[in-house]
Amino acid sequence: MTITVLRLGHRPQRDKRLSTHLILCARALGAEKVIYTGMRDPRLEDGIASVVKEWGGSFEVEYTASHMGIIRNWAGKMVHLTMYGLQAHEVVSEVKESGGPLLIVVGGAKVPWDVYEEADWNVSVTTQPHSEVSALAIFMHLLQGDAALRHEFPGGRLKITPNIRGKDVEVEGGRRGRGSAKTKSSGST
Ligand SMILES: C[S@@+](CC[C@H](N)C(=O)[O-])C[C@H]1O[C@@H](n2cnc3c(N)ncnc32)[C@H](O)[C@@H]1O
Repeated sequence: MTITVLRLGHRPQRDKRLSTHLILCARALGAEKVIYTGMRDPRLEDGIASVVKEWGGSFEVEYTASHMGIIRNWAGKMVHLTMYGLQAHEVVSEVKESGGPLLIVVGGAKVPWDVYEEADWNVSVTTQPHSEVSALAIFMHLLQGDAALRHEFPGGRLKITPNIRGKDVEVEGGRRGRGSAKTKSSGST
């Protein structure tokens, strides 16, 4: 199943870090693309493009002025993450069985009512208010299981080798940056 995330209502001043975290979360857990609405934010797009260049994969970020244009033309099913929806763990099997490309919509400040109406599933992660980042992460994990944690990101300049205590980062070209909690690596990664 391919996953695209639609993030509604980005505001560059207020949401800069939150939208960046949401997009990085979507990428790390296997979404192909994030489309965002609200205000266009070239700094957001450039920041994500730098991460993709450094860390690999073929992830894309796209801006659109109209969420309904994306939703109406979507050739697959759509999940809208909202605390008012059906419980995620109860509907996730049905979503998985639908198979095709999946659009996951996450809100910003105020989600237009048409999104609730157009969604194939309005889905809640706990029925308590929290954040679009936590809701997306948990739902993507429910959808994919542990495969969500094992996506490959070919072509990057940097690659981490998991390490119990230190930092072990392979830099393209063979140079390896190493550091431990004790020696405090001076690298910024
Ligand atoms: C600041 S919250 C606003 C809460 C919103 N009134 C709602 O319907 O969930 C921004 C976004 O986080 C996501 N979100 C927050 N809590 C959630 C939950 N319990 N389940 C699913 N999504 C949630 C939704 O996508 C929401 O639009």
